[in-house]
Amino acid sequence: MSHYVVTGGAGFIGSAIVRGLLRDGARRVVVIDNLLTGHESNLEEVRACVEFERADIREYEAIAPLIRGAAVVFHEAAIPSVPRSIDDPAPSHEVNIDGTFNVLRAAREGQAGRVVYAASSSAYGDTEVLPKVESMAPRPKSPYALQKLVGEYYCNVFSGVYGLEAVALRYFNVYGPRQDPTSPYSGVLSVFMKAILERRSPTIFGDGEQSRDFTFVEDVVELNLRAARAKNVSGKVYNGGNGGRITLNEAWALLQRFEDVEIRAKYAAPRPGDVRHSQADTAAAVRDLGHDPRFSFEEGMRRTLEWYRGQ
Ligand code: UD1
Repeated sequence: MSHYVVTGGAGFIGSAIVRGLLRDGARRVVVIDNLLTGHESNLEEVRACVEFERADIREYEAIAPLIRGAAVVFHEAAIPSVPRSIDDPAPSHEVNIDGTFNVLRAAREGQAGRVVYAASSSAYGDTEVLPKVESMAPRPKSPYALQKLVGEYYCNVFSGVYGLEAVALRYFNVYGPRQDPTSPYSGVLSVFMKAILERRSPTIFGDGEQSRDFTFVEDVVELNLRAARAKNVSGKVYNGGNGGRITLNEAWALLQRFEDVEIRAKYAAPRPGDVRHSQADTAAAVRDLGHDPRFSFEEGMRRTLEWYRGQ
């Protein structure tokens, strides 16, 4: 029986894709994760329904047999975070570039049906125009942004040269339940959630007027499932955002409103490598993949906050 593989399947986004696959009726799901940033507990209630393999995508021989013959490989394993890639570039280079190469090579040699690759909106850098559209020249500003872009190019080349079906989805600041708020490199909304529930001030880097197209994780899961089925998309790159744009000040204000509290944020120097504004043009993803994001920022934030409250 042909199977699905989710690399990074014990991570925040990967584990949500695992759940999406199972909801969709997938019979065999193989999770590859080295548990560097993922947690087996992210799989909780579905742990018994999946094959969990603790393996590292930097080791080709370890992952190739797991990927062989897969119907679709969702490649989510990565060392995320712009500042982490600046502080410690070698591990993120090895995982995000060499690891991605290994996944594509294993998919090609093992005749997998398709790879759906988790690319990043960071590839755009600072563009003069918003929203950001796939035809714009990329301007990566950090090692992380460049690494994720190289992965896209590798997908395109494997598609063109070897005929591997590979499609890249540029995620735009995904948030939702299970995003780990405990690392210095955690995504900003998970940090905000923890701060508001503990009635503490978060630290905002810069003036807080930078903006992001925050995308609820369930919308990203649905997009992945659609990208796995879509026709004539191999070698292409699509924005996986919402099309909106929220500033950090607005996000923090919303959480204060939800909780009916007034807590001023602290402000610190802007972060090196930070992009100022980010917003997706979703037209291509809507047209070719049937992208249909359903969660408004308020609704996604409400659900996410309730999840953190329950922890
Ligand atoms: C970038 C990518 C995103 C990718 C992510 C992976 C862009 C536009 N987005 O996210 O697609 O998924 O890397 O890690 O490049 N901040 C604070 N206080 C904090 C933490 C962060 O103010 O405690 C600020 C940051 O300086 C930044 C914003 O919040 O301006 C978002 O930061 P973060 O959540 O780390 O994501 P990006 O770097 O935008």
